[in-house]
Amino acid sequence: MTMEIFLSLLLVLGVIHLVQAQSQRGFISLDCGLPANEPSSYTEPNTGLEFTSDAGFIQSGEIGKSKTIPRIGYGYPLKPYTTLRFFPEGTRNCYNLPVDKGRKYLIKAWFRYGNYDGRDIKPRFDLYLGPNLWATVDMQDEDSTSEEILHVPTSDSLQICLVKNGTTTPFISSLELRPLGNNSSIAQDDSLKLIRRIYFTESENYIRYPDDAYDRLWSPLSSSSLTHISTTRDVSNSGSYNVPKAVRQNAARPTNASEPLTIEWTRESPNDQFYMYEHFAEIQDLQASEIREFVVSFNGISISDPVTPAKIEMTTLGSRIPVNFEGEICSLQLTRTRRSTLPPLLNAYEIYRVIQFMQPETDETDAVALKSIQDTYKLIRINWQGDPCVPQHLMWDGLNCSDPIISTSPRVTSLNLSSIGLTGTISAAIQNFTKLETLDLSNNNLTGGVPDFLGNMKSLLVINLSRNNLSGSIPRALQREGLKLLVEGNPRLCLSDSCKKLHKKKLIVLIVASVASAAIVIAVLILLSVLKKGKPAILRGLHLLPRTSTMNVTFAEKNSRRFTYSEVIKMTNNFQRVLGKGGFGMVYHGSVNGAEQVAVKVLSQSSTQGYKEFKAEVDLLLRVHHTNLVSLVGYCYEGDHLALIYEFLPNGDLKQHLSGKGGRSIINWSTRLQIALEAASGLEYLHIGCTPPMVHRDVKTANILLDANFKAKLADFGLSRSFQGGGESQDTAVAGTIGYLDPEYNHSGRLGEKSDVYSFGIVLLEMITNQPVINQTSGYPHITQWVGFELNRGDIVEIMDPNLHKDYDFNSAWRALELAMVCANPSSSKRPTMSQVIHEIKECIVCAKSGMSKNQGLEPQEITSADTSMVPTAR
Ligand SMILES: *[C@@H]1O[C@H](CO)[C@@H](O)[C@H](O)[C@H]1NC(C)=O
Ligand SMILES: *[C@@H]1O[C@H](CO)[C@@H](O)[C@H](O)[C@H]1NC(C)=O
Ligand SMILES: *[C@@H]1O[C@H](CO)[C@@H](O)[C@H](O)[C@H]1NC(C)=O
Ligand SMILES: *[C@@H]1O[C@H](CO)[C@@H](O)[C@H](O)[C@H]1NC(C)=O
Ligand SMILES: *[C@@H]1O[C@H](CO)[C@@H](O)[C@H](O)[C@H]1NC(C)=O
Ligand SMILES: *[C@@H]1O[C@H](CO)[C@@H](O)[C@H](O)[C@H]1NC(C)=O
Ligand SMILES: *[C@@H]1O[C@H](CO)[C@@H](O)[C@H](O)[C@H]1NC(C)=O
Ligand SMILES: *[C@@H]1O[C@H](CO)[C@@H](O)[C@H](O)[C@H]1NC(C)=O
Ligand SMILES: *[C@@H]1O[C@H](CO)[C@@H](O)[C@H](O)[C@H]1NC(C)=O
Ligand SMILES: *[C@@H]1O[C@H](CO)[C@@H](O)[C@H](O)[C@H]1NC(C)=O
Repeated sequence: MTMEIFLSLLLVLGVIHLVQAQSQRGFISLDCGLPANEPSSYTEPNTGLEFTSDAGFIQSGEIGKSKTIPRIGYGYPLKPYTTLRFFPEGTRNCYNLPVDKGRKYLIKAWFRYGNYDGRDIKPRFDLYLGPNLWATVDMQDEDSTSEEILHVPTSDSLQICLVKNGTTTPFISSLELRPLGNNSSIAQDDSLKLIRRIYFTESENYIRYPDDAYDRLWSPLSSSSLTHISTTRDVSNSGSYNVPKAVRQNAARPTNASEPLTIEWTRESPNDQFYMYEHFAEIQDLQASEIREFVVSFNGISISDPVTPAKIEMTTLGSRIPVNFEGEICSLQLTRTRRSTLPPLLNAYEIYRVIQFMQPETDETDAVALKSIQDTYKLIRINWQGDPCVPQHLMWDGLNCSDPIISTSPRVTSLNLSSIGLTGTISAAIQNFTKLETLDLSNNNLTGGVPDFLGNMKSLLVINLSRNNLSGSIPRALQREGLKLLVEGNPRLCLSDSCKKLHKKKLIVLIVASVASAAIVIAVLILLSVLKKGKPAILRGLHLLPRTSTMNVTFAEKNSRRFTYSEVIKMTNNFQRVLGKGGFGMVYHGSVNGAEQVAVKVLSQSSTQGYKEFKAEVDLLLRVHHTNLVSLVGYCYEGDHLALIYEFLPNGDLKQHLSGKGGRSIINWSTRLQIALEAASGLEYLHIGCTPPMVHRDVKTANILLDANFKAKLADFGLSRSFQGGGESQDTAVAGTIGYLDPEYNHSGRLGEKSDVYSFGIVLLEMITNQPVINQTSGYPHITQWVGFELNRGDIVEIMDPNLHKDYDFNSAWRALELAMVCANPSSSKRPTMSQVIHEIKECIVCAKSGMSKNQGLEPQEITSADTSMVPTAR
């Protein structure tokens, strides 16, 4: 340390103020390890201090009791230092003490080992104040010790932590907090660890409360090189430092009057800085000629002007700024001046070392919020003690914090409370983490709604709420760009704040899309009609639309596909193998020329159709070609015998595959979507691809057949009727199946394309849910009612076919469900067209593919802003 710095040091006289403390107001005196069920507080008779059990201030640790008789030393025989709390679990265990933020406290921790564990292993561990190391407690050489610090808490709660460093078990006997006066001018900004507080006396009395109002502990010191003096007079305390009376009345001076009074101590680290306080009063009666004057020097360098103790009045000389020096031994000396006739005199002194608390504590709002969460969920985690973010190696489990930078409080950036059995609702405290980026509450038992405030937390990038028991709807604000939200596995959670609203939005999208595609269709149709006459070949090559055949193909020209009844008997091997029963008759398996497999539908005799109608139908069927329509191979018309011969589809119908009947395999989700797309394409072709357009009138799962590659083909459309408006369109024979039949048919008596859309919606619902279309035993007999009910409960898992074993992408499932419900809208005007349906199914497929590849279909659902449309319709 250089001269200049020493010169800049100021020692100030008697300006230190400590507010007189008359009572134990604000004192916290914890007898650690005092069982809370014994009288949990008592008055210690020697001091009158009220000690209480520490049980209310710490969650961890076990109770022990010192077994040995203590060595002589102040306080140690006392009851508060007999029981103790030790911490075999966890690295850091902390007391949480209520304090006044910004107020200076004297904090004292007592440790008396007393071989409480019978192992005689002297512990060594660290003591932290919040995030900062206060002291290393090392009991190697002593059975008891204490640590004291002057500290100004930066928040309303003070954490005092015992931190394992090595293998020994931390413990503590007593913890004592004493608020000091507001104006205490002992180094206002620094935390000061007590090195020594000595008063000179030949007695062995330690002084503390109530003699010292702040319960500072003054240790007695006598030395053969010192001459001790005392007085019975009442030494005044004008310096406001409030030195206890017994300290004021005792002093010492060097026995060899020419020697200085020297105080020495050892520096532990080269960076150590110290504050020193010297208390003195002239308690000797001096003759008029006698002068006592001395200077204070530090390691040989004078650091004060000459001072003369005031008569019977306490003076305190104290450092204003911390002092540093070179060398290992620190030496404070009081040296008489030349004119002094008497040696220097000193009543008492204090030495403090500055503790640089470099680590800023975790942002107080974050820390409070964490505490609140801890309380709300009654979280007991051994590691959730002390400062949440710092020091970094002791950061709480489940947290991630911004890097602590000097003087910038760390902030919580990630909170992971996954899989720790949380119950109740999502804590409102979470909104106070204003820098939170990742929130993982997955795999708990959280109930209640998804709170709106999550949507207002702009910092959030990932929220994982999956696998809880949340209900209600997801706030709109959560469906924002850049926010990844996972909510899978909350059966009662509805995915939108207003399904209907979003549904409308969705419909608008659908309608816009449909207008656009209709415009294209019209344009193409116009083009076609222009091109049609002369250049059918070009048309066939165009493939812009499903192929339409020319109008002038006639029944007669198709004679080649006409079979005799005996041929029919032959091809079906005399109707040996029944494939099924259709609306108009039995279907048999057959083969043409022993090779091509066919399905032969033999129309019942009771069919009301006459030849004219039958001829019309066959004409129609023969000119309809679409990859997703079962194609007609031929027909038979011979007297009463009417039969239609179709291509054979070896994989049966969709209904069988959903039910698993007839040994049919259950088809997976993506195949279902593909089948839905193909069936929809077949329908679209009937509606807009054929001339004249057709209505299927009997769309149902039993009419969706699957070829060897599970490609879907619509069957039985041939028995529908062409509709062109006018007299031809009367529906004399309604083919529809109950449950699939457009409810509007009841009053309109007409079936249009939108009737097919309705039926297709029911088919989709079946494919999604595998529920019966009509279930009279249920409270919701129709499948749309049942799904509507389940949707209101927000329960997609309950809705989905259990045979899928949750092996589907949730996004696409929701979309498909929504689509199905739109299609099955009781009002035909609200149903989409098949083109819109196809567009939407394609989206579902894209969704499922990306979802499956990302999640293998099992992972939590992800909602991003781009997916706001995937919200189900409630009804
Ligand atoms: C443990 O103690 C050693 C020796 O005093 C010290 O160097 C080290 O920093 C301590 N570790 C922690 C985590 O405090
Ligand atoms: C300390 O100051 C605060 C306000 O800064 C005041 O509320 C409190 O009462 C004061 N305490 C004492 C002991 O003077
Ligand atoms: C504390 O300081 C304030 C101003 O800083 C002063 O008004 C007040 O009197 C002081 N209190 C004591 C007890 O010194
Ligand atoms: C007192 O101290 C002085 C200075 O150190 C020394 O010269 C002297 O011998 C000492 N007197 C006695 C009696 O020890
Ligand atoms: C915490 O954040 C850092 C930096 O962002 C990152 O490297 C680390 O993986 C995160 N740790 C956890 C447990 O999330
Ligand atoms: C949360 O912790 C669990 C393990 O408890 C882990 O599987 C998961 O990945 C963590 N979440 C985040 C977002 O890091
Ligand atoms: C959130 O912070 C505000 C202001 O800091 C505070 O008033 C409120 O009590 C905090 N809420 C919770 C639940 O911690
Ligand atoms: C939810 O609570 C039930 C019953 O208390 C329990 O069996 C289940 O394990 C809990 N689930 C989670 C994820 O904690
Ligand atoms: C929750 O989701 C996040 C983001 O996808 C993920 O990192 C985390 O692992 C998930 N948590 C669990 C327990 O799966
Ligand atoms: C989910 O919450 C509801 C209502 O609070 C309760 O009836 C149900 O048992 C809970 N489910 C689980 C799996 O805990």
